[in-house]
Amino acid sequence: MKVYHLAAECYPVAKVGGLADVVGALPKYQTEAGLQAAVVLPFYNRKFVQENEFDVVFEASTLLGKKRYEFEIWKERADTLGFELYLIYVPGLLDRQEVYMYPDEREQFIIFQLAFLDWINWSQQRPDVIHCHDHHVGLIPFLMKHSALYSKKYAKTKTVFTIHNGQYHGAFNYDKFDYLPEVDMNFAGLLDWQGAINPLACAIKCVDKYTAVSPSYLEELTHSSNGLEYLFWLEHAKGKGIINGIDTEVWNPFTDPMIKAKIYAKKPESGKLANKKALCERFGLSADQPLIAFIGRLVGEKGADLLPEAFSRSLQKHAGKVNIIMLGAGDKETETALTKLNEIYPDNYKTYIGYNEELAHQIYAGSDFLLMPSRVEPCGLNQLYSLRYGTLPIVRRTGGLIDTVTDFGDPNGYGICFNNSSVNDICYSIDRAVTLYKNTEQLDLLRKRMMALDFSWTKSAKEYIMLYESLTSII
Ligand code: ADP
Ligand code: GLC
Repeated sequence: MKVYHLAAECYPVAKVGGLADVVGALPKYQTEAGLQAAVVLPFYNRKFVQENEFDVVFEASTLLGKKRYEFEIWKERADTLGFELYLIYVPGLLDRQEVYMYPDEREQFIIFQLAFLDWINWSQQRPDVIHCHDHHVGLIPFLMKHSALYSKKYAKTKTVFTIHNGQYHGAFNYDKFDYLPEVDMNFAGLLDWQGAINPLACAIKCVDKYTAVSPSYLEELTHSSNGLEYLFWLEHAKGKGIINGIDTEVWNPFTDPMIKAKIYAKKPESGKLANKKALCERFGLSADQPLIAFIGRLVGEKGADLLPEAFSRSLQKHAGKVNIIMLGAGDKETETALTKLNEIYPDNYKTYIGYNEELAHQIYAGSDFLLMPSRVEPCGLNQLYSLRYGTLPIVRRTGGLIDTVTDFGDPNGYGICFNNSSVNDICYSIDRAVTLYKNTEQLDLLRKRMMALDFSWTKSAKEYIMLYESLTSII
C-alpha cells in the first residue's frame, strides 16, 4: 500500500511544534510495518535541505489564478529519515526559510496542494491513500473529487485527514476563489463555512475518514473547535481518535546524545541527578531544590499567559525551596513578563526565550517536574517525552493530557493533574509537587512507573494502517 503524507512540518526538516514530530515519525514506523509511506513538504531553505542530497524527479508549471508558476519535485536521495521525502520547490513562493507567518501564506499552501496533485496526476503512480495533516492541506480531498482536472486520476484513492489543531482553520475570502482550478459548482458549497472558504471544514466534509490526535480531543471538537462544533457533531461517524506516539529512537534517555547522562528506566535516580546537576549548573541554580520546567509555545492555548503570576506566587510561597526553568517563545507580553522574573528571583528562576531543540532534551532529562497548564491540548508530546525521561508531568485535564496522564493519587497513577486553567490550580499543583519531592521513595517509584510506560508509535502506527485498510478494502 502506498501512502503520501502531506503537511507543512516534518522533523528534522522543518519544525515549529508537535506536528513536525508526528510527521517525522509516523511514516517511519509505517514503513517498518511494511507500508510504502512517503512525506511531501513545501521546500524550506533550512539546514536539513542544505546538508542532504536531492534529485529533481518532476518539473512542470501550474496556474495560481492568472499567474503561472514553475515548480519542481525534489526527492531526498538516501531516504535518510526512513521514508521517502519529497519537497515541492516553487521559486517565488516555496523557496524560503520559515514555515509560517508570511503575508502570502495562503498562496503558498494553495500552490503546494496544486503542485502535489499535478505531479501525481501526470505520473505513473496511483497512491492508495493520501493522508493530509491540518488545514494547510485541507483542500486536497475536495479537489481530488470535485475538480475535473483530477477526479479521474484519483477516483480510487482514499483520503485521511488528521486534526492536530482544530483551533486554526486557514479560512480565506472568496476573492481568492480563482486560485483553485475549475471545480464542479454543484459541490462548491463544500468549500464554505460561514461565508468563507474554510479548508479545515472542507476537509472534514470531503475526506473519507478523519482522525484527531487523541480520543478525548475527538470528543472535545464537538463542543470546542472555534466555530466548527456543529460540523464535527454532524460528521462524528467519520472520526476516530488515535493517540500520537513518540519516536523512541530520537527520544531515548539511554542513547540521547543531547543529554549529559544515560537514564536507566529500572534505576533512574543517578541518571536523573546527573542530568539535573548539569542543567542547574548551566543556569546557575542549585540542584538541591525541586526543579519544575515549562517548554512550549507561549500562547493562550498552552495557558502561557497564566505562568508569570503562577510562577511569581509559587516562588514567593516556597521562597528558596523550588526552582523553575522556562523555555519558550511566542506572545511578546508573556515573554516580557516571564523575563522580568529573572531579576526578581535570580537564584531560583530562569527564562530562556527562543527555540532550542538541544536544551529541550536537557530539560526533559534534568527536571523533576514538567508543567503543562494547557487550555487546549489535542495530544501533547511534551508530557510523553517527560514520562520517558522520568520527569513527572503536571497537567491540566484536557484533550490528550487526559488520555496519557493519571494523577499519582489514583490507582497506578504517576502524574499531577488539575482541572482548571487557572493560576490557583497551577499553584496548588506546584505545592503538591514540592511536597512529593520530599518523599524520595515515592518519587523514585513514580519515576520507575512512568518510565515503564509505552507510548511508542508501534501501536498507533498500526491503528492508522488498520484505518487505511478499512478504506481501501471498500472500492
Ligand atoms: P504543540 O505542537 O502544540 O506546540 P506538542 O506538545 O505536540 O505541542 O509539541 C511541542 C514540540 O515542540 C515538542 O517536541 C517540544 O519539545 C517542542 N518545543 C516547543 N517549544 C520549544 C522550544 N522553545 N524549544 C525547543 N523545543 C520546543
Ligand atoms: C498540535 C497540538 C498538540 C499535538 C501536536 C501533534 O500542535 O497542539 O497537542 O501534540 O499537534 O499532533
